[in-house]
Amino acid sequence: MKIQKISKQQLKKIIKENKNTSRYWKNKEISGLYVIKEDNKPIGLLSSRNKKDSYFINMIEIFDKNKGYGQKAIEEIKKMTPKDIKGIPVTEAEPFWLKVGAQFDKSIYFTIKKQKEN
Ligand SMILES: CC(C)(COP(=O)(O)OP(=O)(O)OC[C@H]1O[C@@H](n2cnc3c(N)ncnc32)[C@H](O)[C@@H]1OP(=O)(O)O)[C@@H](O)C(=O)NCCC(=O)NCCS
Repeated sequence: MKIQKISKQQLKKIIKENKNTSRYWKNKEISGLYVIKEDNKPIGLLSSRNKKDSYFINMIEIFDKNKGYGQKAIEEIKKMTPKDIKGIPVTEAEPFWLKVGAQFDKSIYFTIKKQKEN
């Protein structure tokens, strides 16, 4: 699996080729865009940004769901940053975030903590 930075132009093409992508990606203010590829084929999209204390996922979407790509993508994102990974979980995806080790506290965010090295 590979996660590569893309432009808005490249995003347009991916949306065209994958008809079931959500409305989210059509937002004009979208930034921090990445394509998630498996065997060099786009299988999902990521919008994220580097914050001071965390790597923040604005949105992640896998086109062909429930095949394990989502979990694989999170493993790949962990390699991209030394920081904790944070995001705002939508209700439907809560079981997914729990599955990939996210913790929910009293804030609106979830956190996937970096394992402490010993
Ligand atoms: C959330 C999402 C990225 C997960 O990617 P995925 O490739 O479908 O997830 P995986 O195949 O790796 O599934 C991981 C686990 O999460 C669970 N899961 C995923 N989506 C779920 C759902 N909607 N409801 C319940 N459980 C779900 C599955 O039980 C699966 O566990 P299993 O392997 O024991 O069956 C994907 O479903 C998606 O694009 N959803 C729409 C966009 C979205 O909600 N993004 C998150 C924004 S916060």
